[in-house]
Amino acid sequence: MKSAQCSCSGYYLLAMTDSILDYISLYSIYLSKLSYSLISFLLTFFLVFFIASRVIKYKTNRSSSSSSSSSSSSLKRDKEKMSEQSLNLLVLGNGGREHALVWKLAQSKTVNKIYVAPGNGGTNSSNDDERIINLPDLSPIPLNFTKLQDFAAKNNIDLVIPGPEQPLVDGITDIFNKIGIPIFGPSSNASQLEGSKIFSKKFMKNHNIPTANYNEFNNAESAITYINSQLDKQDQKIVIKADGIAAGKGVILPTTKEEALQAIHSIMIDKQFGTAGNKLIIEEFLEGQEISILTISDGYSYFNLPPAQDHKRILDGDLGLNTGGMGCYAPAPVATKKLLQKIDNEIIKPTIDGLRKDRLPFVGVLFTGIILTSMGPKVLEYNVRFGDPETQTVLPLLSDETDLAQVFLAAAQHRLDSVPIGIQNNKFATTVVMAAGGYPETYNKGDKITINTELLPRDTYIFHAGTTIHNGELVTNGGRVIAVSSVANSLREAVDTAYEGIKCIDFKDKYYRNDIAHRAFQTQITSKEQQTTSITYEDSGVSVDKGNLLVQKIKNKVKSTRRPGADSDIGGFGGLFDLKAAGYKLDDTLLVAATDGVGTKLLIAQETNIHDTVGIDLVAMNVNDLVVQGAEPLIFLDYFATGKLDLQIASDFVSGVADGCIQSGCALVGGETSEMPGMYPVGHYDTNGTAVGAVNKSDILPKVNEMEAGDILLGLASDGVHSNGFSLVRKIIEHSGLNWDAECPWDPSMTLGNAILVPTRIYVKQLLPSIREKLLLGLAHITGGGLVENIPRALPSHLQAIVDMSTWDVPSVFRWFGKTGNVPINDILKTLNMGIGMVLIVKPQNITRVKQLLEEANETVYQIGELKTKASSNEPGCIIQNATSLY
Ligand SMILES: *[C@@H]1O[C@H](CO)[C@@H](O)[C@H](O)[C@H]1NC(C)=O
Ligand SMILES: *[C@@H]1O[C@H](CO)[C@@H](O)[C@H](O)[C@H]1NC(C)=O
Ligand SMILES: *[C@@H]1O[C@H](CO)[C@@H](O)[C@H](O)[C@H]1NC(C)=O
Ligand SMILES: *[C@@H]1O[C@H](CO)[C@@H](O)[C@H](O)[C@H]1NC(C)=O
Ligand SMILES: *[C@@H]1O[C@H](CO)[C@@H](O)[C@H](O)[C@H]1NC(C)=O
Ligand SMILES: *[C@@H]1O[C@H](CO)[C@@H](O)[C@H](O)[C@H]1NC(C)=O
Ligand SMILES: *[C@@H]1O[C@H](CO)[C@@H](O)[C@H](O)[C@H]1NC(C)=O
Ligand SMILES: *[C@@H]1O[C@H](CO)[C@@H](O)[C@H](O)[C@H]1NC(C)=O
Repeated sequence: MKSAQCSCSGYYLLAMTDSILDYISLYSIYLSKLSYSLISFLLTFFLVFFIASRVIKYKTNRSSSSSSSSSSSSLKRDKEKMSEQSLNLLVLGNGGREHALVWKLAQSKTVNKIYVAPGNGGTNSSNDDERIINLPDLSPIPLNFTKLQDFAAKNNIDLVIPGPEQPLVDGITDIFNKIGIPIFGPSSNASQLEGSKIFSKKFMKNHNIPTANYNEFNNAESAITYINSQLDKQDQKIVIKADGIAAGKGVILPTTKEEALQAIHSIMIDKQFGTAGNKLIIEEFLEGQEISILTISDGYSYFNLPPAQDHKRILDGDLGLNTGGMGCYAPAPVATKKLLQKIDNEIIKPTIDGLRKDRLPFVGVLFTGIILTSMGPKVLEYNVRFGDPETQTVLPLLSDETDLAQVFLAAAQHRLDSVPIGIQNNKFATTVVMAAGGYPETYNKGDKITINTELLPRDTYIFHAGTTIHNGELVTNGGRVIAVSSVANSLREAVDTAYEGIKCIDFKDKYYRNDIAHRAFQTQITSKEQQTTSITYEDSGVSVDKGNLLVQKIKNKVKSTRRPGADSDIGGFGGLFDLKAAGYKLDDTLLVAATDGVGTKLLIAQETNIHDTVGIDLVAMNVNDLVVQGAEPLIFLDYFATGKLDLQIASDFVSGVADGCIQSGCALVGGETSEMPGMYPVGHYDTNGTAVGAVNKSDILPKVNEMEAGDILLGLASDGVHSNGFSLVRKIIEHSGLNWDAECPWDPSMTLGNAILVPTRIYVKQLLPSIREKLLLGLAHITGGGLVENIPRALPSHLQAIVDMSTWDVPSVFRWFGKTGNVPINDILKTLNMGIGMVLIVKPQNITRVKQLLEEANETVYQIGELKTKASSNEPGCIIQNATSLY
């Protein structure tokens, strides 16, 4: 799932101190409104954490589900509140599919009544829910529209939901549309996708949707000639399909030429399937695993349900006669995330769009049977309704907030995107069908069924198909009698639980397959196959190998940050630090921790494709915050999250982090690189870091009790805008129309991008000597809030900092931004550092020494002001003088 600089994370940091210090981290958020010139902003403080006492445990979350689950959840969020209404639904059909639909529809709080025409023993109101009413005398087959319309009108039906294909092909949607009753199903013309094999083949050809090659025949002679010419020449396998609907029996897979000729004879001459056999197609035989995708569509937008694999044959091992379906499981692991994306791009979307372009916008459920060939996924067939038993498998996977009645109504009204639809994360479902002995040939009806619901495992559901209630008793009434569906956290568990559920049901000569989902488990056994068929992290968008490569790539760089106290390699579970080895007397030492990120400056790194400097900013933001407490930064950990791991970008970034650590003398003891495809777009990353340092008790800053009026403020030059104010910076640059490659307006020797990305100056090594000589009373790191808000953070409340801006040259970068953005002076003072990155509060008699130490370390030092006693307590903590006419 995730890769790491250290191949794992969850770091434990041990420290042996006896006191507590908490730490404040500053964040600033700019809400920039740029009408012409004015930017308003807002400052927010976040009080952060880290209490250190004896042991700090700092653990990063690395559970494997944390990252990629975010991408597997597909949720459409609802903006408007769902109207509280009482819907009367009419569901047409009597199979397991319809029972599953009714079961899920009945979970809707907006449903008043669900009529099922004709329904079965599972939908019979005598069961438990009185909102569900069977209509034994009303069947959609054969379609008697007058009867259905009368019923719908008399009972205020708000939505019709046809289960089987026949009424759809017969035009039930067109006639309900005509009388203005919403119906969740495709028009008869769109239903030709299932109603005519020739229609669907032509459709696929027109819209470049991958499918088997085929030939069309409208008389027996030409078909026979073709068979003779083809099957003589080569040992080619073929498929014969009757054009029309043939109750699922119209597809023949002949194994010999004789069988093929026989099939053509019975379809076209004997009219085995009636007029459905007036035409036929002969197509190439494709090999591969099959999956079905059910897609809910309103003609424009659509939602794919998890990929399902069903089992058509009656016997274990996929042997014996064809049936309506003996079991099913979803999501089928063979359909990896990558593959599903391909299927969506190459098949589902072109189908929904193609139908609309052909003026047949598809409302309802599109069932796409897909075969996974070595040449990629291809369409075997379309159905224009829910599959059975796929429905019993996938509906239990819908999330709780999915109101299926509202979803169907929304689809019927072409506003599918107005309702939430979601799939439960990381769940699997399995359905096992129980048939009557003898099925799919002759079988008995009327046998008593007993169900012991007390033994039913949790998350297990019973869906009736061929059942009815006769004289108050539940009895068998069809070949496929009843099914059990289970939902669980793994496919194995879902299968096992479904078979537990099967034990609760008994009837004479019951029969079921014992190997549902066997393909999913087979493919996991052979490792070679596994590469192509089971889900790998790579398929889910996460590359582990790359993560390991990254570790190799950055290892030496990270090693170079070693220091006394920390010399462990990366790749372990955590970073250890030995305080004693670093020269700290444990009794007098406190730990200080800080955490921070780089903010929107990262966007500029991403836009300019310069990634080796923001790592320095990340370290700087953290270690500068430590040094202002008088602490020496000791160890650093970074967290880098991206949509797709790019080795070069990640290693550039980490190399910047290592540079920052070297500059500040702390060890990079660990980090985490996390790929989160759903969370961040490809090419984007975000980062945060944590630094931990130590301070001798007597060195803790600020020493507010020792400060008094007359103490001097020294300022250390900044290197540019550092890491704050980037919302403003980006707005102004956007407004100026300059691009990142342009010559920098305030420094023609650089590009604008390079100039802006100059990293935040790290002030650690320069300041530590003064801290150790106890020359400093306080320090202020100038970040968001500028001089005005950061200096007072180091002062006691009765003192005020008077800063004279004429004491240093405000660098031209700040003048340029102020002028170009026409930013009011008070705003820019609170947003950018104006050339001072660190402020020191020093006794007048110590100034010479401090300046000397800093200048030896090549710092540019300005004496920028002094402390004054406030005249009244409500005076500001910092006053800036001579800030006029800067630009
Ligand atoms: C449809 O049902 C009505 C009764 O509601 C009946 O009069 C009519 O004959 C039926 N039509 C057909 C074609 O069966
Ligand atoms: C269905 O298609 C036929 C033939 O193209 C056309 O005449 C008819 O109007 C269509 N029906 C609907 C309801 O769009
Ligand atoms: C529903 O139950 C009633 C009474 O229990 C029975 O008369 C009716 O035939 C049942 N219908 C079906 C479809 O099971
Ligand atoms: C970094 O922290 C910010 C603020 O808490 C948060 O919004 C962001 O998601 C974090 N980024 C990462 C990569 O953790
Ligand atoms: C901490 O203070 C002690 C004296 O109290 C000193 O010996 C030691 O060097 C100091 N350590 C650091 C890291 O400043
Ligand atoms: C710093 O100032 C203090 C008085 O506050 C003084 O005692 C000390 O000697 C000074 N140190 C140096 C190095 O000037
Ligand atoms: C300061 O700069 C000089 C000249 O560029 C260089 O020789 C010296 O090493 C630098 N000192 C530090 C502490 O960086
Ligand atoms: C700066 O401001 C102070 C107080 O307003 C004023 O006395 C001083 O002359 C100004 N200095 C400059 C160089 O403008």
